[in-house]
Amino acid sequence: MKSKKLLKALNDQIQFEFSSAYSYLAMAAYFESQNLPGFAHWMIMQYQEETAHAMKLFGYVHDRGGQVTLQAIDQPEARFKSPLDVFEKVLAHEQEVSKSINALYELAGRENDYPTVVTLQWFITEQVEEEKTAQEVLEQVRIIGNHGVSLLMLDRQLGTRGTQH
Ligand code: FEO
Repeated sequence: MKSKKLLKALNDQIQFEFSSAYSYLAMAAYFESQNLPGFAHWMIMQYQEETAHAMKLFGYVHDRGGQVTLQAIDQPEARFKSPLDVFEKVLAHEQEVSKSINALYELAGRENDYPTVVTLQWFITEQVEEEKTAQEVLEQVRIIGNHGVSLLMLDRQLGTRGTQH
C-alpha cells in the first residue's frame, strides 16, 4: 500500500472496530447483570460482528503488503440507566462508525487506492444494515417503556439472534 495516510486511517478503523466490539461486550455484561439473557446474547453477537469487521480489515491490510499496528482500547462505558439508554447509545455509536467508514472511503478515493475503495463498499452496505438493526431494536424498546412482560418477550426474541458474518 503506497499511501501512508491511508494505512494509518485503516489502522485507526481497526482500532475503532475492536473498541466497538469491547463496548458491546460491556453492554452484554450490563444485560447479564439485569437478568436479561436475550439482550446479553444479542450484544455478544454484535461483539462478534465487530470483531469480524476488525479482522476483515486486518486481513486486507496484510493482503496489500501493509502492517497492522494495534492500538490501545479505552475502558468501555459499563453503567447504563436502562435498555433504552443502551440502545440509544448503540444507534449513536453505529452512526459514528458509518461516518468513520465514509471518511475512510473518501480518503481511499482521494489517494486513488481503488482496491481499498472496493473493499470499503462492503462496509458501507454493512453500516446501512447495522444502523437499521439498531434503530429497530431501539424503537421496540421505546414502545415497551416500563412494561415488564413485553420486555421479557423482547428479551426472548433477541435471544434468537444468529451470527451474520
Ligand atoms: Fe463495525 Fe457496527 O460497525
